[in-house]
Amino acid sequence: MATEAMAGVAGCGGAAKRTETTSADYAYLRQLVMEQSYNVLEASRDYLFEARLGQVLRAHGLSNIEELVQLLRLRRSAQLERAVAEAMTINETSFFRDGKPFELLRSELLPKLIKARKQTRKLRFWSAASSTGQEAYSLAMLIREHFPALGAWDVSIEGTDLSTEMVERAQSGRYQRIEINRGLPARHIVTYFDHAGGGWTVKPEVRRLCRFQQVNLCGETLPFTEQFDVILLRNVMLYFNQETRKRLLAQVHRLLAEDGVLLLGSSEQPADLSLWKSVLARGTTYYIPK
Ligand SMILES: C[S@@+](CC[C@H](N)C(=O)[O-])C[C@H]1O[C@@H](n2cnc3c(N)ncnc32)[C@H](O)[C@@H]1O
Repeated sequence: MATEAMAGVAGCGGAAKRTETTSADYAYLRQLVMEQSYNVLEASRDYLFEARLGQVLRAHGLSNIEELVQLLRLRRSAQLERAVAEAMTINETSFFRDGKPFELLRSELLPKLIKARKQTRKLRFWSAASSTGQEAYSLAMLIREHFPALGAWDVSIEGTDLSTEMVERAQSGRYQRIEINRGLPARHIVTYFDHAGGGWTVKPEVRRLCRFQQVNLCGETLPFTEQFDVILLRNVMLYFNQETRKRLLAQVHRLLAEDGVLLLGSSEQPADLSLWKSVLARGTTYYIPK
């Protein structure tokens, strides 16, 4: 693939010559990322392209950003465009991130929903933008730990992310020490993880509750028809512009049960408050559909 890629660039008019990355190259990449993932990248952070695209360059036998842009301009490869957009996503996450929303779920929101669903005995959760899966598995551990009766219910936690690599890592349920040490009580490590080969793998009884798939939250349609009871859309809307946030939240509104709850990141709020009522509880805010 490397030779083919380079032949294409060379055919474009002398790729051997090392040129400087121009502002037009960066603008091209920013536009590409916007089209693929709707993530808005500021020009002041163009240095991130160099920092993040190393693996993409190596995989295509390219030695710098200029060559990458030349190749992309020459033949629009959907696969390469996606790889660039995925590499530019921020995948920061941790178990029980921010603490308070999980405490709120445990103490108030889940008891209420469990009461409301006692006839159907079914609960559906969505960790939208699930990254490497810690958010979904935190929910699963919380359910196993505090609501053992739900073992007899139909409980599902859907995790979705734009990045195929993140989805694969979430599916594997395997974590390194540094990830395990962030946010997980020691007791949970012992109870819910198997330790082998230098890594920790989520136990089958927790994994069984979670499914992960690649989904672009800003694509034409979201792949769900059945509504959710709890949606966690945390720390992803900050990468979108106002119009994208508004469109996404309208879709999320349709996918949330009338008495369901939406949890956002601690620095996020709905772009369109006509659809949502905010409720302050336990030092955090959650949203219910109007
Ligand atoms: C900062 S992480 C947040 C993870 C988790 N929700 C949390 O709060 O810890 C943001 C995630 O959003 C994903 N993402 C970015 N743009 C997306 C899009 N258009 N569709 C789906 N996921 C997207 C990224 O791949 C990344 O894994």
